[in-house]
Amino acid sequence: METMKAVRIHEYGGPEVLRYEDAPRPVVKPDELLIRVHAAGVNPVDWKVRQGLAKDFLKYTPPFIPGWDVSGVVEAVGLDTTRLRVGDAVYGRPDLSRDGAYAEYIAVRESEVALKPKSLDHVQAAAVPLAALTAWQALFEAAKLEAGRRVLIHGAAGGVGTFAVQFAHLKGAHVIGTASKKNHEFLRSLGANETVDYTTTRFEDVVHDVDVVLDTITGETMERSWKVLKKGGILVSILQPPSQEKAASLGVRCAHVFVQPSVHQLNEIAKLIDAGKVTVVVEKVFPLWDARAAHELSASGHVRGKIVLRVI
Ligand SMILES: NC(=O)c1ccc[n+]([C@@H]2O[C@H](COP(=O)([O-])OP(=O)(O)OC[C@H]3O[C@@H](n4cnc5c(N)ncnc54)[C@H](OP(=O)(O)O)[C@@H]3O)[C@@H](O)[C@H]2O)c1
Repeated sequence: METMKAVRIHEYGGPEVLRYEDAPRPVVKPDELLIRVHAAGVNPVDWKVRQGLAKDFLKYTPPFIPGWDVSGVVEAVGLDTTRLRVGDAVYGRPDLSRDGAYAEYIAVRESEVALKPKSLDHVQAAAVPLAALTAWQALFEAAKLEAGRRVLIHGAAGGVGTFAVQFAHLKGAHVIGTASKKNHEFLRSLGANETVDYTTTRFEDVVHDVDVVLDTITGETMERSWKVLKKGGILVSILQPPSQEKAASLGVRCAHVFVQPSVHQLNEIAKLIDAGKVTVVVEKVFPLWDARAAHELSASGHVRGKIVLRVI
């Protein structure tokens, strides 16, 4: 059995349960690709899974490898794959229910990865798939955002938020973002028209007549968001299904989005990035062996853009 270096979780717990160690190198099935991982994006789901917070719907057999954002190079192809070749530089969001990308190699289905944006290195590319697909699916699939609409994006400076602000701005929407004051100028540079400092201002006091709320925070932020919607507007949460009864009683709509793989959307996003229309914001890069520090920073809840683990 060939081995590789990986970060694995043997039991749920704090950052200390992340073990940098030898693990079996994956073997690809006919519809899969073996990717030599160059970089792995870090997302809040990684430390939520590590803590066991997602175990009701994501079942793993320990030890397992976290990390569901990857950029790397195709090392081997399964017999039934048709699109990608050995040597292709690819990026994608691997299946959340399987071993992730905190490793030298990962096996992914061909349907989960696309050619990486040419203008990005692997570290930047690994910051894109999960967060950008989530923002895309929330704004364009769930909310069907159109030009001229008013959209309120909570957590606008975070991983999902930085893509959502840029996608909504490119679509021609009027973009309002919530963030602490230190991020306001940054959000304007991404295309936000208005910013609200959630630490000093109740957004519902200053924001009204919104067509779309994208909620990446939940809790009372989600509950207070109903008030800012205009009739027929939509509240999209990426954390929990909002109440359909409440939406109906207010004459608005709601939806819950859980990110799905999409080669087509990854290709569209890569085009926007390569055209210089979308910027990828990486706050900090850690080496793979220091995944613990990356988890601690992510769990602080105040990252600007993304965190990435460099594998090569
Ligand atoms: N359903 C799905 O498929 C899906 C996909 C991706 C993510 N998610 C979930 O969505 C959430 C957001 O993900 P993410 O990657 O964007 O997280 P993230 O990058 O960790 O978000 C950090 C950002 O949140 C901002 N923030 C913290 N508290 C805030 C508040 N009360 N109001 C407004 N902004 C606030 C911070 O801004 P300041 O520093 O200015 O405070 C920071 O920039 C996570 O819980 C994640 O698990 C779900």
